[in-house]
Amino acid sequence: MEFDEERLLSAHALSRSEDDGDLSLRPHTLEEYIGQDTVKENLKIFIEAAKKRQDSLDHVLLYGPPGLGKTTLAYIIAAEMGVSIRITSGPALERTGDIVALLTNLQDGDVLFIDEIHRLSRTVEEVLYPAMEDYEFDIILGKGPSARSIRFNLPKFTLIGATTRSGQLAAPFRDRFGVISRLELYTNEDLKKIVTRSAGILGIKIDDAGAYEIASRSRGTPRIANRLLRRVRDFAQVIGDGVIHKETADIALDKLEIDRLGLDNVDRMMLEAIIRNFRGGPVGLETLAALVGEEPVTIEDVYEPYLMQIGFLSRTPRGRCATPAAYEHLGFKYEPK
Ligand code: ADE
Repeated sequence: MEFDEERLLSAHALSRSEDDGDLSLRPHTLEEYIGQDTVKENLKIFIEAAKKRQDSLDHVLLYGPPGLGKTTLAYIIAAEMGVSIRITSGPALERTGDIVALLTNLQDGDVLFIDEIHRLSRTVEEVLYPAMEDYEFDIILGKGPSARSIRFNLPKFTLIGATTRSGQLAAPFRDRFGVISRLELYTNEDLKKIVTRSAGILGIKIDDAGAYEIASRSRGTPRIANRLLRRVRDFAQVIGDGVIHKETADIALDKLEIDRLGLDNVDRMMLEAIIRNFRGGPVGLETLAALVGEEPVTIEDVYEPYLMQIGFLSRTPRGRCATPAAYEHLGFKYEPK
């Protein structure tokens, strides 16, 4: 079937252009992939079992904050299964025909990766139900009492969906994924390994303390760690001896306004707004978003997971609160209400 491959597959590539520099840094096997041990170990078993049965892998849903390597894992899964992967995203699939075109162009075992799968339209989602469950889809011809449907068979493909918010998927859709894996923010130790590995690939000289400094200011996120590594390298080359030591990393990251714990201006603005304007909270999400000039979903997906992880922010039914630890970090005196 002819289809507009450019449009369906490129929307994803465009939205990811900021990552292009990271392509060379992507691990290609589970062995090379650092961190996410539980997810990795489980996937290893599921992949091995599927291969033993000479079957396709069950559908996989990967969820968690942005920048943790969901797309990378999808590529690795396809490579480990020895199959091809097609990549698209929820917003790129506008019409039923879009998803049908992709599905009918797959081979047995192939992976179809849909990023931002929570943004699929209802109609596209409904094509996926029978496609995922029984590897078939129906096309309705005509309207009203004379309408009839024709059933088509599909290859036995694997759908890998990625989302920052699994809660936004309809329950029947979520239930059709045999494997549901949540990616966690990385530990500083794992991020340090990633920074060291990336530095090796990029030919950047770095010592252990330098790598740890970048890791500990990367908010648990490899995408951020790799970006900071490149920026700190620039400083090391211009103001240092070309090698990233702790001191160079400190100076560079301070200049980039990223503090010891990896908080940037938006994080600090958010916490300060809660502390100054609302005496520590609770503050509603919408109010908080307006105060710092970001979208509520960005606050929820990008900023809050790390602030909650380090114990600076708590979510209550009435809104967000800054914790005593946040007061202390920002130099405010905590006064219980
Ligand atoms: N680069 C980005 N994420 C990575 C990971 N999890 N393991 C190794 N290299 C990476």
